[in-house]
Amino acid sequence: MHYFHCIRESCGATYPLAENIHTCPRCGGLLDVEYTFDREAAAQWPVLWRGRRASLRTLDSSGVWRFRELIPFLSEQESAALAVTLGEGNTPLLESRAAARYAGLDAMRFKHQGFNLTGSFKDNGMTCGVTRARALGMRLVGCVSTGNTSASMAAYASYAGLVPVVFIPRGEIALGKLAQALEYGAVTFQVEANFDQILRLIFRLAESLGLYLLNSVNPFRLEGQKTIMAELLEQCGWREPDWIVLPGGNLGNVSAFGKGLRELRDLGLIRRLPRLAVIQAEGAAPLCRMMESAAAELQPIERPQTLATAIKIGAPVSWPKAVRELRASGGVCVAVSEQEIADAKAVIGRAGIGCEPASAATLAGARKLRAAGVVGPDQDVVAILTGHLLKDPDYILRYHAGELECGGRLLESRLANRPRIVAAEAAALEAALREAAGDRLTASG
Ligand code: F0G
Repeated sequence: MHYFHCIRESCGATYPLAENIHTCPRCGGLLDVEYTFDREAAAQWPVLWRGRRASLRTLDSSGVWRFRELIPFLSEQESAALAVTLGEGNTPLLESRAAARYAGLDAMRFKHQGFNLTGSFKDNGMTCGVTRARALGMRLVGCVSTGNTSASMAAYASYAGLVPVVFIPRGEIALGKLAQALEYGAVTFQVEANFDQILRLIFRLAESLGLYLLNSVNPFRLEGQKTIMAELLEQCGWREPDWIVLPGGNLGNVSAFGKGLRELRDLGLIRRLPRLAVIQAEGAAPLCRMMESAAAELQPIERPQTLATAIKIGAPVSWPKAVRELRASGGVCVAVSEQEIADAKAVIGRAGIGCEPASAATLAGARKLRAAGVVGPDQDVVAILTGHLLKDPDYILRYHAGELECGGRLLESRLANRPRIVAAEAAALEAALREAAGDRLTASG
């Protein structure tokens, strides 16, 4: 038996999955998709999942649907017939000594969701969200986005023959993401308001506009994103890391990860829950503020500020789920400054890995938690890099030109790498190379 379950303790209503709902019709609370799993069969799933890596079937090639026993909201036959997949997931787990050194850890690994087709973890969720839209017979899908959700939804919806409609805060999303929405054929509205304001409006209007909403309030999105944890644990040989560090914006991802990990534990596939560490930008850190003040409710931030536009969110919708998961896992939430994000991003880039600004908050956060003694030097830390380096080229070029500014303050570009101008002539090139790269060649020996 599979069903929706309202997460509000005072409500707890349940609904059949056949209903087309995103939030609790009775109290407006957030919904979980719940399943009755076969716990005995689950012991065999890791072998089954591993075997599918060698399969050429479309469904098995997806890093989300490969774990379909964890997301059985459709039957096996329905999944095969309806799944909208672009080969999402299957992302690498990358070790970096340079990043570990920077954080003060013996070792550190990055699960890089930027390897997805549209360059972010949104693809892991969108494959399920768009499949659900298709199963319901919806034609028009919509989202409000700081960029990545809209890029991903545009691709998956267009691939499925549905019409994507995106609402983005005008002038506040990174260039690569806007370019993707346009190229993937989304009907694109640049709205003169911030993310939170637009989301409030579209929540109210979605139904009358005939839009199937694919923001992370849609629990099927989170079902897809939770499989990132199954893939990570498989890569870890089912040995739980001590910490999983991720950036927090609308707080869908931490909600998905927490649910996914609890299910894996309840199924007996892991023994304990890794601790979740959510990192926010100082200018957009309502969850950190709430946890610090031990408040019962989240106080929205009216004008969130950060150059990490992906997480420029002041009123995160999924905060009740995020709080639940932080409590369950003994997790923490910390805020990092713009300078800390910029420094960490440059370190991840120099390590040959690269990511977008919001993702770099993870390394900045890990360093901070290590310095505070919350994370031990020999603990096993995995950071989730949520988006690809090319999402926000503007940030990168300004950083390396020493022109990165936030709120009228110039940030330091400590690892600036400026392009050099050189004449098209052998001797000049040789001298310029010796001058520019001599030190690095000697150092790398
Ligand atoms: N990192 C990136 C690259 C993101 O795009 C987002 C969210 C987050 C982290 C935060 O994840 O919202 O689940 O806490 N981007 C959304 C969007 C809001 O519209 O693309 P979260």
